[in-house]
Amino acid sequence: MSDRPSVWVSRPTFDDVIARLAPHCEVDVEPEERKFAPAELAAKLAACDAAIVGLKEHIGAAELAGAKRLRIVANLAVGYDNLDLAALSAAGIAASNTADVLNESVADYAWALLLGAARRMGAAERWLRAGQWHATEFKGWLGTDVRGRTLGILGMGRIGQAIARRAQGFGMPVLYHNRTRLPEATERECRARHVDKDTLLRESDCLVLVLPLTPETRHAIGAAELARMKPSAVLVNVARGGIVDDAALAAALREGRLAAAGLDVFEGEPKVHPELLTLDNVLLSPHIASATTDTRRAMTAVAVDNVLAFFGHGPHAGHPPNLLNPEALAAAGVALPPHHHFPTHQEPTR
Ligand code: DGY
Repeated sequence: MSDRPSVWVSRPTFDDVIARLAPHCEVDVEPEERKFAPAELAAKLAACDAAIVGLKEHIGAAELAGAKRLRIVANLAVGYDNLDLAALSAAGIAASNTADVLNESVADYAWALLLGAARRMGAAERWLRAGQWHATEFKGWLGTDVRGRTLGILGMGRIGQAIARRAQGFGMPVLYHNRTRLPEATERECRARHVDKDTLLRESDCLVLVLPLTPETRHAIGAAELARMKPSAVLVNVARGGIVDDAALAAALREGRLAAAGLDVFEGEPKVHPELLTLDNVLLSPHIASATTDTRRAMTAVAVDNVLAFFGHGPHAGHPPNLLNPEALAAAGVALPPHHHFPTHQEPTR
């Protein structure tokens, strides 16, 4: 048996990027993308020293019970609600994410959904494909302008800030709500004003959600919040399913209490609330906001860099740049490979 660390990669990614592990590790890449049953996932985790996983892999205490060799789990995403960080830390296992490299692609996509939903692009395309163009009327397909309207952002991490910067081109004032207010210089640069959540809901013409899913943010937008929004407003969710109560959203869209929505993420995805599938004023996509070639390659590279760094190799040898649980590992007295220094500051993600 090789004394090199073995790395399990839970889905095919970019072979040439993964190949950077090969000089230092034994690498086992799953040949196809699929969802592993919990017991199967546990067996995979028990058989490796490092795992590069995605959002389909939900890793908690049960999946880690037999993972005696596992040292690091590198998540192929910035959000990490699929990882039970407390369980990983308790087991002395490091976790990393792919913060920052996807900010601009996700911000672009949030705007694509916002514009597409406001201008009814999904429904119009379905109409055209159904051969109904001949019936288009001058007053048909009227959408909503976003230019000059108020953009609200709930969750003002790096992605929220990238979305805010783009608003300048549309002449849109930006309001945001975040647990922590941004430094004044960042607010100035993003031309964004911090408000309480209630004001954000009441004053936004377009509201984009970019906050992480935690027990506190589950259903942050439910029936009560939707009732406070303008009936003419457009809602965009590029964060996580579960932040919005999809049943309440479907009811608001159906009853005209909200003009439109653009959704990339869904409660219980890959399932989509059946009523959302029947409504024409919602633009839907299958969790692809970060899916550009450059960004998915960069995300893979970040995961590879974190694994290599953990085992003392690569450009960040000894300093995995995206560790999510350094304090917990230090408190648990987990010995990292030689020369490891914990970062002194973890950048906020979303
Ligand atoms: C993330 O990185 O959290 C995205 O949702 C997955 O692409």
